Amino acid sequence: MINKINTDKLTIAIDGPSGAGKSTIAKEVARLLSVDYIDTGAMYRAIGYKLGQKNIDLEDQKALNQVLDDTVIDFEKGNMILDGLVVNDIIRTPEASRMASICSALPEVRKKLVVLQRKMGQTKSVVMDGRDIGTNVLPDAEFKFFMTASAEERAQRRFQELIEKGEQVEFSQVLKDIIQRDHNDTTRELNPLRKAKDAVELDTTGMSISEVTDKIINLVRCGR
Ligand code: DC
Repeated sequence: MINKINTDKLTIAIDGPSGAGKSTIAKEVARLLSVDYIDTGAMYRAIGYKLGQKNIDLEDQKALNQVLDDTVIDFEKGNMILDGLVVNDIIRTPEASRMASICSALPEVRKKLVVLQRKMGQTKSVVMDGRDIGTNVLPDAEFKFFMTASAEERAQRRFQELIEKGEQVEFSQVLKDIIQRDHNDTTRELNPLRKAKDAVELDTTGMSISEVTDKIINLVRCGR
């Protein structure tokens, strides 16, 4: 069934708040459709991680621009590559999440990453997930989805993920972080998180990964 979808330049945008399950679902949808998956959150995380490591004063325009100019970000076989190194795991710590959220509000950071993201979306078929894909990065995407879930359920999923990775975290702190990041993502001036007018909203509260994936695949299949 899935093979019958015409994947000739297919662009799918998936937006939503932290922990709504975007990455897991987007990766699975991309795998089933045999197209590339672009995790734009990982790109903000990589930049945030680097700025944190270098202890850059984010108000220092010159220092910030210097680091951005010297940074090479790419995906290779599904891996997030920062300056030639695989950084899949080190960009997922609570500290890297906090830095990603802060630096994603900086115009210089967004400008650099949006150019890269548009290039990726224009040259090949992709499933791209983030916060502003349907509204800003790929406003002409053929399919747009906006995934949500309650803050408690999202915090529970993130908590589980961190515990499984051996991180020492408290649920109350994870929930607090999610609420703080929702606030940062929706209130920042530049390209805040919001649903594109033409996006299909999917509330994934209480839904399994395969239920959400099936729903998206079916909508894509029906829409082509
Ligand atoms: O999806 P994520 O949690 O890995 O994203 C990390 C941070 O990057 C998050 O705070 C929001 C930000 N982000 C963004 O501003 N725009 C995007 N397109 C993707 C992520």
